[in-house]
Amino acid sequence: MATPDSPRTIAELFQRASASLDAPVWDYLTGGAESETSLCRNRLALDSLAFVPRVLRDVSRIDLGADFLGTPIALPLFLAPVGSLRLFDEQAAAACARAAEAAGVPMFMSIMAQPTLEQVRASAPGAVLVLQLYMRGGRDWLDDIVARAEAAGCAALCLTVDAAVYGRRERDLVNRYSSAQAVDRANLGDRKDVQIADEQAQLSFDTIAWLKARTRLPLIVKGVLDAEDARLCVEHGVDVVYASNHGGRQLDHAVAALDQLGEICGAVAGRARIFVDGGMLRGTDIAKARALGADLVGLGKAQGAALAADGEAGVVRLIEILGAELRTTLALLGCPSLAGLGPHLLRKAAPVGPSTALSTLRLPAPAGLPPR
Ligand SMILES: Cc1cc2nc3c(=O)[nH]c(=O)nc-3n(C[C@H](O)[C@H](O)[C@H](O)COP(=O)(O)O)c2cc1C
Repeated sequence: MATPDSPRTIAELFQRASASLDAPVWDYLTGGAESETSLCRNRLALDSLAFVPRVLRDVSRIDLGADFLGTPIALPLFLAPVGSLRLFDEQAAAACARAAEAAGVPMFMSIMAQPTLEQVRASAPGAVLVLQLYMRGGRDWLDDIVARAEAAGCAALCLTVDAAVYGRRERDLVNRYSSAQAVDRANLGDRKDVQIADEQAQLSFDTIAWLKARTRLPLIVKGVLDAEDARLCVEHGVDVVYASNHGGRQLDHAVAALDQLGEICGAVAGRARIFVDGGMLRGTDIAKARALGADLVGLGKAQGAALAADGEAGVVRLIEILGAELRTTLALLGCPSLAGLGPHLLRKAAPVGPSTALSTLRLPAPAGLPPR
């Protein structure tokens, strides 16, 4: 529940985060790879769509409810996997899991995050928890991780496939900053010092089929941008195609996942669910993604900023504000529920200004804008 001091807008959450974080950590959170074209393009994709609202529809009751693979959730969003959460708050993934539980949305816990999966589960027994994997070992290692995820009552596994190598994040390079040195990779055991393992670069569709056969948990593949890859995922038994360019932190000059949704939805043809992320900072963003066919929308930077702003309460507040914005958007679009959203409500439109990582928040410079 909001207090008089609670942030009223997502911009306020980011301003508080920027005031609380050291400059290199702020850069790590808000920056992207190389020229940051992928990062900015995520916003450009959203900013290049305008709504054409419908009127005279009864919107006196708005239903924001969605589902995660059949489990009802409060809003069509989830906390995307973010490693290094401890940079933003001592409670790290435990705080995010409790916030997700309180707000009724799923949390994707990165295998890079802290504390251990078992501790996170103990602190949020009712959370819809997904474990996100990077391959840091061979198949025995993976078997062990799968067993832990099943024992911890995870709702699904998410394998990230857009990180064969680590993206060149120039802010971190210039800052001489490494998040890997800043936090302990509690979930990786004796592989915790390995930045990117060969096993990650060796991933193939065979791994997907193998993993699918080893677990009863639904499988989400994160980092798909191509329609043919989406089709192959489905043919290898994937339950969710998660369209993402990793928040612009991996391949530079990548397309925005949002711009690929039409083709991906066509290729998937209803045989799997579709999640998306990248630049999502507002209720209107979530409405646009849903209108283009995504089932759920992931929050990366916004989650980290909310955690830095006010710990668990900050993340709860982020979800509350997004819920309020989405409710307003649906009402003004003439849509009483998410089911009414569709491409018929969108038109291509010229962005009204330069699209940068946080431009939609209209932060007063220099309070929280990333440098450059
Ligand atoms: C600080 C930070 C750490 C991240 N760590 C991971 C990770 O461990 N695993 C992963 O799959 N994605 C990771 N991501 C990517 C997010 O899951 C997500 O794809 C991306 O942040 C979405 O874009 P957004 O930040 O614009 O919301 C990270 C993102 C950020 C900002």
